[in-house]
Amino acid sequence: MHAVYVFDAYGTLFDVHSAVRRHAAAVGPDAESLSSIWRQKQLEYTWVRALVGRYADFWAVTEAALDTAFAKVPSAPRETRTALLDAYRALDAYPEVIDVLTALKAAGRSTAILSNGSPDMLERAVEAARIGSLLDAVLSVHDLAAYKPLPAVYEMVTTRFRVFPEAVSFQSSNRWDIAGATAIGFRTVWINRTGEPDEYLDLPPAVILSSLSGLPTR
Ligand code: LAC
Repeated sequence: MHAVYVFDAYGTLFDVHSAVRRHAAAVGPDAESLSSIWRQKQLEYTWVRALVGRYADFWAVTEAALDTAFAKVPSAPRETRTALLDAYRALDAYPEVIDVLTALKAAGRSTAILSNGSPDMLERAVEAARIGSLLDAVLSVHDLAAYKPLPAVYEMVTTRFRVFPEAVSFQSSNRWDIAGATAIGFRTVWINRTGEPDEYLDLPPAVILSSLSGLPTR
């Protein structure tokens, strides 16, 4: 039985591409490319900063990544920068999120977010999605000034809930995040929303789903 259900935030509960999609007309024909580079650079900057030991919070990293994306996609007008960043603060939650969290609470499970997001970003996102009452904890890497997939980040969960790793079910759409959580001993559920090929084959997920619907509650 898994007592604690922990969710990655960006890409798993919240649709990171909804910011650009909301302003797709203003961004122009390369909107999808801008969104994809924005996300990739945002993640790259977290990994490099964690390795170098130069933490900057996830909001700063998100802004820097968008600026790089604009530089690489000249057709996207920089005048959309403020609107895109505002949208990123209140991303769409995936449609199944509320039902899944409600079912877990009804089954008596503890629920939490574990995210690279800074505390204020996560607070705004949780509020916009109206899921605050369905979460027992919102854990941010900010307290450690480090980033996933460092083991110390995942250990925040076992420390907060006073459980062994086997009691934790960890859900993420990021395959590299699943690798980090598997390494620490969590039961991992990869939410492969876009049919990506498997990676990190020696650190496999226990379960693969195409959305959070159907998540086992035991
Ligand atoms: C997060 C990033 C990895 O929410 O999506 O931690």
